[in-house]
Amino acid sequence: MIDLLKSHASVRRYKDVPITDEQFKEVIEAAQHAASSHFVQAYSVIQVKDVDKKEALGKLSNNELQFKTAALSLLFCADLKRGQKAVQIHGKDIVGDTVEDFLVASIDTAILAQNFVVAAESKGYGICYIGGVRNNPKEISELFGLPDYVIPLFGMTVGVPDEQNEVKPRLAVDSIVHVDTYDENKYEKQLEEYDDIFNQYYRQRTNNKKDKTWTETMADFLPKKRREHLKQFVESKGFLKQ
Ligand SMILES: Cc1cc2nc3c(=O)[nH]c(=O)nc-3n(C[C@H](O)[C@H](O)[C@H](O)COP(=O)(O)O)c2cc1C
Repeated sequence: MIDLLKSHASVRRYKDVPITDEQFKEVIEAAQHAASSHFVQAYSVIQVKDVDKKEALGKLSNNELQFKTAALSLLFCADLKRGQKAVQIHGKDIVGDTVEDFLVASIDTAILAQNFVVAAESKGYGICYIGGVRNNPKEISELFGLPDYVIPLFGMTVGVPDEQNEVKPRLAVDSIVHVDTYDENKYEKQLEEYDDIFNQYYRQRTNNKKDKTWTETMADFLPKKRREHLKQFVESKGFLKQ
């Protein structure tokens, strides 16, 4: 299991080999055994089979090729709708609009998805998360008939890999683990070391070689505001209204 986890690399090119509904079911069923906050199981997965919808999803998430060529095109949604139905059976309604509700549904969905990834990779499939679905969440919600309390968090393509990317070196364990007290003073030195390792990886990898460090990529990425439409979208679905 540890070897499998450490061999993960996103796959963006797939062989033209189908994944049957049975094969998909085996993997998603395993994923469902993830822990779930208060066992709300606050997620839904849209399996996109319809060719036109797949194409539309590709366009709306700026990822046409992957959704077109993957054996499975999935949309992972944070979902309190089912929970609401359960509550309404008992003549009550959910709160739904607190930060906690939003976190519960988002965390549950992310844990399900990552369990799915590990199960899929154990079967020899490759995957790629597609955050691009948050480019056009309103249009994507309409495309798949997502009701209130259901929001698309990310997509995922899955298939038999037609490429094997080198594993990206991660931050040092010491950078992400703090013993007893959070220590930000250690970052400067650690990031310098990581930049060397990361730059070497970027310059030597097979595809899409770059001469950048990790801190440079963060400096390109993190100072920009992104997807500012999300606040209003999430609120329009009933989350975070308070
Ligand atoms: C929530 C999420 C969204 C992502 N969105 C995209 C995406 O839209 N397109 C893409 O090519 N990769 C996407 N990725 C993949 C990341 O770029 C990738 O996981 C990261 O660079 C680490 O590389 P690795 O997965 O090969 O180890 C996403 C990953 C996550 C977790």
